[in-house]
Amino acid sequence: TKVDWDEKQAEKGGYDHFMIKEIMEQDEAIRSTLLGRVDRGRVRLDELEALQEELKNAERIYITACGTAYHAGMVGAYLLRHVAGLDVEIEVASEFRYAKHHWRENSVGLVISQSGETADTLQALRMMKADGIPVIAVVNVVGSSVYREADASLLTQAGPEIAVASTKAYSTQLVVLYLFALYMAKLKGLLTQEEEQNILEDLWSIPEKVKQVLSNAESVRRIAQDTYKANDIFFIGRQLDYMLALEGSLKLKEISYIHSEAFPAGELKHGPLALVTADTPTLAILMQEDVLEKTLSNVSEVKARQGDVFVLGFERDRKRLEDIGRWSFFVPDTLPLLAPLVGIPVLQLFAYYNAVLRGTDVDKPRNLAKSVTVE
Ligand code: G6P
Repeated sequence: TKVDWDEKQAEKGGYDHFMIKEIMEQDEAIRSTLLGRVDRGRVRLDELEALQEELKNAERIYITACGTAYHAGMVGAYLLRHVAGLDVEIEVASEFRYAKHHWRENSVGLVISQSGETADTLQALRMMKADGIPVIAVVNVVGSSVYREADASLLTQAGPEIAVASTKAYSTQLVVLYLFALYMAKLKGLLTQEEEQNILEDLWSIPEKVKQVLSNAESVRRIAQDTYKANDIFFIGRQLDYMLALEGSLKLKEISYIHSEAFPAGELKHGPLALVTADTPTLAILMQEDVLEKTLSNVSEVKARQGDVFVLGFERDRKRLEDIGRWSFFVPDTLPLLAPLVGIPVLQLFAYYNAVLRGTDVDKPRNLAKSVTVE
């Protein structure tokens, strides 16, 4: 009926879809997730107080999750290794729960879930707990199964996420993982106050920078106008850029139905390059200074096969990168460590506009569910 339609429209706050509404809410969601967790330049996670001893002694962290939450977990693994000096194992929950684990002493589990009801994630959590491993959850829904069963929960303050494709849950999961990595680094005595302050200051500037990116949505839509008819779109990057590429590629395939894969840029020559033609655009993420030159040489390999390239980089590299691709988008500068937070909105918008131009059911892609509570 007409009333239903009006109600739905009202819930979408004037947007065409929940997904774009949720993409556009991300600056606020990130701000809410930071709120109360940074106190005079120091990270503060009161929720973890009860686990102080276990965390201080922790040597290995087991991370598990599904889908987008797993991609956030990959960034988390990178951060815990690089910032907190920890040994990390990470696997998707549907594999993790059936794998043979030789648990190390002083292990801590970390599960990530928007809904807190994903069956595989919940089973993985139960398995760790049964084996005596304390488990921390990064979760969006208060009172969910994961929230209730974990030993401690770090809430993402994303608010309700309606669109099947996860957007603001991912960016807020990242925020919590940054804070958790800093917290662990401090417990391990690996972080000076100055380093902590530097990262936190940059983290606080993220909502404003995300907002800037979002205000440029129209330029992403214009790029999508050139790409939406493609049959395949590849994403490449190295290190954090690769982890971000995985999420960008998942977003694109799940809502636009364009076949897409993300590759570590260095793996291109071991197979995927055989698929690159003039008809397969490649989105290259070039935000990690340490490996940027290496990825640029992979971009050349793509271009040598007539593949069109979409470059995603930092504003500070504009001069160096702007002539490289057919399309480019530059995001406000941050520490390279924080690149996923400013890069993800671009990839979400890219997926969204490709889907809209193809006329798919953006908020409810075929065959997919928001929360997978069956095995
Ligand atoms: C489903 C959703 C994804 C989500 C995944 C994990 O596949 O469609 O968007 O990333 O489940 O969900 P969770 O609620 O555990 O984060």
